Amino acid sequence: MNQPIITHTESSYRQAEEKAIRYFESLYSQVIEKGYIPTLTQDFHTWKKTHIRHPLHFAPFSFGKKRAEGLGYYAYIQWLSKTGKLDHYLDRSISYIYMRDLGKALDEMDTQASITRAVEKIKEHILSEPSDEADSFNQSGLYRWAQKEGVESATMWVLHKLKRVSDHIPVGMDADHAQRKLIKTIAGVIMHAVEEMDDSITGKVRSKKVDEAIRLGYSYGLTYPFIDDLLDANILTPQEEKRYSNLIRTSLVTRNVPKLGEWQGKNKGLIDFIHAELKEAFEYIKRHQNPETIDAFFEQSYVFFHAQEVDRDKDLSNRNYTNEELFIPIILKSSSSRLIVRSVISAEEDQGFDRRTFYYGIYNQLADDFTDMFDDLKEGAVTPYTYYLTYHESRPDLINPFELYWTVISHLIHEVYHNDPKTCEVILDRAINGLKRYKNRMGSKTYNEVMQLFSSGHSAFNHMIQQLVRKADEVDFFDKLLRDHIILSLKDQKQEQEEFLDIIEKVREQVNTHLPIAKGPLSDDNIVDGANYSLIGDGKRLRPILTWVMGVKEFGLSASAIVPLLKSLEYMHTASLIFDDLPSQDNASIRRGNPTLHEVHNVAVAELTGLFLTQKAIEEQTCLDQFDSKVVLQLIQYTAQMTADMCKGQVMDLEAKGKRLSLQALNQMCFYKTGIGFEASLIMPAILAQANDTEIKAWKTFAYHAGIAFQIKDDLLDVEGDQQTLGKPIGNDVDHDKSTYVSVLGVEGAKKEMWEHYCTALELLYEISPKTPFLKHFLHYIVNRDH
Ligand code: IPE
Ligand code: IPE
Ligand code: MG
Ligand code: MG
Ligand code: MG
Repeated sequence: MNQPIITHTESSYRQAEEKAIRYFESLYSQVIEKGYIPTLTQDFHTWKKTHIRHPLHFAPFSFGKKRAEGLGYYAYIQWLSKTGKLDHYLDRSISYIYMRDLGKALDEMDTQASITRAVEKIKEHILSEPSDEADSFNQSGLYRWAQKEGVESATMWVLHKLKRVSDHIPVGMDADHAQRKLIKTIAGVIMHAVEEMDDSITGKVRSKKVDEAIRLGYSYGLTYPFIDDLLDANILTPQEEKRYSNLIRTSLVTRNVPKLGEWQGKNKGLIDFIHAELKEAFEYIKRHQNPETIDAFFEQSYVFFHAQEVDRDKDLSNRNYTNEELFIPIILKSSSSRLIVRSVISAEEDQGFDRRTFYYGIYNQLADDFTDMFDDLKEGAVTPYTYYLTYHESRPDLINPFELYWTVISHLIHEVYHNDPKTCEVILDRAINGLKRYKNRMGSKTYNEVMQLFSSGHSAFNHMIQQLVRKADEVDFFDKLLRDHIILSLKDQKQEQEEFLDIIEKVREQVNTHLPIAKGPLSDDNIVDGANYSLIGDGKRLRPILTWVMGVKEFGLSASAIVPLLKSLEYMHTASLIFDDLPSQDNASIRRGNPTLHEVHNVAVAELTGLFLTQKAIEEQTCLDQFDSKVVLQLIQYTAQMTADMCKGQVMDLEAKGKRLSLQALNQMCFYKTGIGFEASLIMPAILAQANDTEIKAWKTFAYHAGIAFQIKDDLLDVEGDQQTLGKPIGNDVDHDKSTYVSVLGVEGAKKEMWEHYCTALELLYEISPKTPFLKHFLHYIVNRDH
């Protein structure tokens, strides 16, 4: 261990603590003197002139406003735009974010110019968003951004990481919350990195910086779920918590992650995963620090960690905490968590930023703790609010946190931001909006009780505040609208996703019951046995499922009428797999979790079974007796042509062995061997439904991209997948020197290509605007599947 670093780390904590003590003392005396009351009364007096209109003048507007409040995201933005309020709305919102998240001073010229530019950009973007896109948070929007910034690799990497983290969040912790917090942290670090670059930095240099910011943001953000939240939750035993937090402390003071050592008990798997993931993150951050800023980074990290520990160790049943004990760790943790976001990217020292951020932290913390006070109380967490709620009667010496909150506001406006009018405006907007939202959420009764408790004794000030909460207008913020919108649409997505999985499962089961082929008169029928053998197993049945969804949900066909079609598709597909696995083709030994047909019987039986199944497929189509026979003939013609094309695709695939195909040739081959199967699943029900040519054309294009994305994922799984899960051999493509997306483009390149097709398919879907969200989730599934 490195002794000087340890002492250094600890003394830097003491320094930070002393600064926090001084800040707290100054706030404390302002609370005692109640200096905030006249100051803020004056500020609000000026403020209200632009926020409360004359009643008569206001009347026609107020109707519109009431209605507007109930509008959804898109409609509300349109309303703002129509009533000429959008510019001001965005301006205060972006200004607030510059102040809060970037630690900027709003009175600086550069900052103002940046804000104006950002407002213009966002305005253009949100006004051009299609309103039927209920989920602008799909991964295609993100990937398109990544392409623009040249950070596809980091984006794919972080999406993978996010999924892994969320899969490992234990029961008892909130996986959605963990994801949100991580995403927010990553976004914050990216914002800082972008802000640090001036416009002259473009191209590769810019991409590299943004790429690093994504990875650094993730690496730092990981500490939220895996340190803070984990230690907050009741997952680890007290002994485990102690051991774990010592491990983190040692890592921060020695700047090296110690070995985990033997961990016993039910949390072993979890801790092993977290330790490995945090170690990787820690080392990434360490490797990317500048020698000049690395100390600042580790010092702040330690302050953050230690302050959290001190804060966390509090117990609501302890009635003896002093005001200092309550507030100083809060000042420290809330400021250091923000300071780190800038220092993690090795940004140059900026004293203005450091100073503002140091004073700002507690403002946000007190606002958050106010909102969460009843939840925190239920969990027995100590925050200034829960502690005050519990002990204010027996402890008249306790600071009223709500008064401290106003004091911090007054101090920020007048001391930290030097009376800047814009800052004053934005902070007061936010304060009134916060109370409005709280009142809305909790209902007037609870709200009034809370106000009664926290504002007693300052009736004039409270009266003014409550009047503003009732009457003030134009205090809402875009980030809040966006937050509500995201939460709502994530909820929708979740429900859609569940319905998607439900359909997959139900239709798969249903298809499975129809598939087995009855034996004929022969007592020894190797062909039917072989067909049934190949059909059973863990086939995903994606093609008949797609056909069912398209037929029933999209084109309104009768589910029972298309059963023969579902069987037909799975027979054709299974036949193609039997052929594909033959020694003369891919020579594979496992399929659908079982030995391949030619292995259990012989090549001749396998070949003949394949042929048998393609014929069975046609026979099934002739059973589509609820449809016009001309249409069925058309369907059979399409089937015959498609089957012929698939054979050509397989030949292209085999002939490409050992060659380095061009991307164009690869796409063609994949469309023929795989894409066509997907196309058929969509187009066959369209033929039965007699869909028009334009529709059919659009679905074909969609199928082309979805099919290729599917095959690319298949190629990737051949190198990255797990044989047990996949039910077919891994590494078969490499062993046979096949031309695949991976052999031609490399793993990274193949992934990029897959995302490109995914995005294109998704964008097409928005144009087609199908009746069911199934296909959107199907695409998502294609690129994220491991089976
Ligand atoms: C495998 O298809 C053949 C390819 C086109 C890549 P699936 O992955 O759909 O295989 P099953 O039907 O689930 O076995
Ligand atoms: C399959 O391509 C194409 C077919 C239509 C059978 P692959 O050869 O990559 O399929 P798997 O990996 O064996 O399932
Ligand atoms: Mg093949
Ligand atoms: Mg194969
Ligand atoms: Mg394959």
